This record gives sequence, structure tokens and C-alpha cells, in this order.
Amino acid sequence: MSHKADNSKNAMGCDLAPNIQLNLNARGLSPSATIAINERSNQLMKQGLEVHKMGLGQSPFPVPEIIVNELKRNAFQKDYLPVKGLPELRHAVAEHHNRTFKIDCTGEDVLIGPGSKELMFLLQLVYYGDIIIPTPAWVSYAPQAQIIGRQIKLLHTRAENGWRLIPEQLDELCKSDPSRPRILVLNYPSNPTGATYSLEELQGIAEIASKYRVILLSDEIYGKLHHKGEHHSIAPLYPEGTIYSGGLSKWCGAGGWRLGLFVFPECLRWLQDAMAVVASETFTSTSAPIQYAAVRAFQESEDIDQYLYQARRILKSVAGKLVSLFKNSEIDILSPQGGFYLFPDFKRYEERLKARSITTSHEFCEHLLEETGIAILPGKDFGRAPEELTARLAYVNFDGKAALEAANLIPAGQLFDDDFLYSYCSGPVAAVEKLCDWLKGL
Ligand SMILES: Cc1ncc(COP(=O)(O)O)c(C=O)c1O
Repeated sequence: MSHKADNSKNAMGCDLAPNIQLNLNARGLSPSATIAINERSNQLMKQGLEVHKMGLGQSPFPVPEIIVNELKRNAFQKDYLPVKGLPELRHAVAEHHNRTFKIDCTGEDVLIGPGSKELMFLLQLVYYGDIIIPTPAWVSYAPQAQIIGRQIKLLHTRAENGWRLIPEQLDELCKSDPSRPRILVLNYPSNPTGATYSLEELQGIAEIASKYRVILLSDEIYGKLHHKGEHHSIAPLYPEGTIYSGGLSKWCGAGGWRLGLFVFPECLRWLQDAMAVVASETFTSTSAPIQYAAVRAFQESEDIDQYLYQARRILKSVAGKLVSLFKNSEIDILSPQGGFYLFPDFKRYEERLKARSITTSHEFCEHLLEETGIAILPGKDFGRAPEELTARLAYVNFDGKAALEAANLIPAGQLFDDDFLYSYCSGPVAAVEKLCDWLKGL
């Protein structure tokens, strides 16, 4: 007698292959929006189209040379490292965050991982509670919660408030069920808006978080790209409940190196330990050569200070130019305070767009890509209502190495003029000019 249950084709059309049985939480999920737009742009470029790649949020600048040299020196490192990270690196990270953001911590409080994204996933996995996400928000927080099966609470912020979370919004959410376990993700400077918080505003949020004992996941991965170098961390304002999140991906131009870090307060050591247990059963440890090289990135260095100074100066100048182009075309936009993103709102073109059957941010971005080759992401991917005509542009489509070299020749303190921007940062400027012309021509 045959024990075969069934010999028909499975859903992929394969004979006798196992049937598709996906975890319910992973069903229907698409690839991360930023990765998908990048792949789509590459495809269009292969077909010979000119594409302005402003979809993926990748730093335009090279990794500082002294850090690259450190990686070369450590290419031979081959051993698995401790699951929480290389002790020298954890120590350097703690010193750095003490010095730079006044976070009271030691190496013991640091957890190293293969990107902060992975650490965020582990945190949501080991902690049992809701996740609160102020929107517009980075594209991956909510899908991670969905994969794990956590409840997601979105708190929509408003342009009138500078796209910042108002403490009352958090209070309102928490007061109906005050002791419910929750994580609030606070990302500043923000991807996608570039908005950040003053010390006073952080204090207001810290007070409410502390009142309800909410865990704060403070995603400060763009902190060192505050355009004026004036980033404040919320960690010292709510030390018992804040987990600081950062890494090398943005300020150091090293997204592909995959090195992220969390800094925990001592009273959340149980969470750090639980994450390390799961890490030990999954990725084991972060790449050894990368961790050795990263020690250099967190030590004091004039080279790195100079690199950051120029990177911020360039980003601030490009942002200033793009914001003025948008404003001249009656497009609502707030000036970013850090990072490399803009979040314009095209609502004043709503009627003209409607006449072209464009009624959602998704349709807006699809038409824009097809008709102009400009690749940006719809506001919907950042948790906004589909009909809100917002989008995120990553102004990173220029040669950051050439721009840094040219910036080094211009006296400190000066912003860059149009000559500089059209010579070294023409990608974003040309794309925004084209976008504005497209809108005006509708
Ligand atoms: C707001 C924000 N947080 C976290 C990450 C994840 O960075 P990584 O995993 O490279 O450390 C990103 C990357 O795009 C981001 O924009």
C-alpha cells in the first residue's frame, strides 16, 4: 500500500513537492519597500532608462579611510566572537556614548549585532508587549512586529507639529490601560522627515514614558548626522527605560558592513541577556573583522570629526537647496534638521493629480517613476493614509567622495553655494527640478 498522501502538483506547479505552508505571520508580506524600490530602479536602468535613485536610504559618503584601513589590518580575524560583541568594541562604544551623548553606561551595557535592524527584531521577539510607532515612520518597524505577532499602535504625527510626537498623544494612548507592557520607538533625526526633538521636547516624552513605564527604543541612527552637530539623546532623561539604538550604517557610510548596537540601562539587563540568548541560537556573533575595525570608529579622532563636519555641511546645503526648490513650486515641506531625507506633501496639486487619476501616494510615485525616472517612496510605506500625497526622497544620489574632497577646500563655517551644488550634488538638485517641472506640467 502506498503511503504517499497526494501526488498532485503543489501551488508552484511542482510534482510531488511539499505544499506551501507559510507561517501565517509571514504570509502576504512583501519585501522591504526600500529594498524593492532599489531593485526596481536597477531593473529600469538595465533597460536603458535614466533613473534618479532617491528610494534607498544609503549614505552617499565613503567609509572614512582610517576605518577602512583598520578593516584591512583585521581581515585575518577569523574566530567567532562573544555573542554580545567584542569586549574592546563594547568598551569603545560605551566610552563614545558617554562622551558624546552623556549616556551613563559601561561596556557591559552594550550589545553588538549585525545591523540595528536585526537587534530591533530580537528585541520585539523577546519582549512581550505592544509596539507604539509614531508615523511617518521607518518602513521596517511595523513589518517586524507583524512577523513576530505583536500588536501595533500607530500614533500619527502632523506636519503642523513638525512631524513630532506630542507627549499628550502618548499619554492618551497609555492612560486607558496604564500597566500594559509597551515599547515606544522614537526615531530622531527621523527617517523619513529629517525632524528631530529639542531637549525640552524629549523631556516631555520621557516624563510620559516613565509615568507608564514604557520601554523607549530610541533609534538615534542618524544622530551624528544632525546637520548642526547638536543631537541630544533621550537616554539621560529616562535612564531606567531607554534603549539607545545606533550603528555604523548611516554616519559612517557603512550600511553594507552590517554593524549595529544597542546600549541598555542596567535595569534592562534581563532584556539584553534574553536577546543574547536568541542571538546565540541564530547569528552567533557579528563579523569579527568588522567589529575590530569598528573599534576605530568609536575612538576619538580628528579625521572622523572632520569627515562628519563636512558630511553634515554638505547634507545641510543640499537640503536647503531642495527645500527652496519645493517651496518655489508651492509644495509643502519642512526643512530637515538631520539625516538625508525629505518628506514633501503634494496636496496642493491634488486636483490636477486627480484629473490624471492619481489619488494615492502609491499612484503618485508609480507615475513619477514611469514618466520621469525619479524613484521615491510613497508616504503610505511610512504608515500614512494611502490618500495623503506625501513621499520620501533620499537625497543621496551624488558622489559623496568627490563632494567631501571639494568641501575640504572651502573654508569652515560657510554653506555651499549653487556652483558647488550643481558641480558636486547635481543628482538630487536635477531630480527635484524635474519633479517640480513635471508637477507644473500636469
Ligand atoms: C530609522 C532607521 N533605523 C534603523 C535602520 C537600520 O539600520 P541598520 O540595520 O543598517 O543598522 C535604518 C536603515 O535604513 C533606518 O533608517
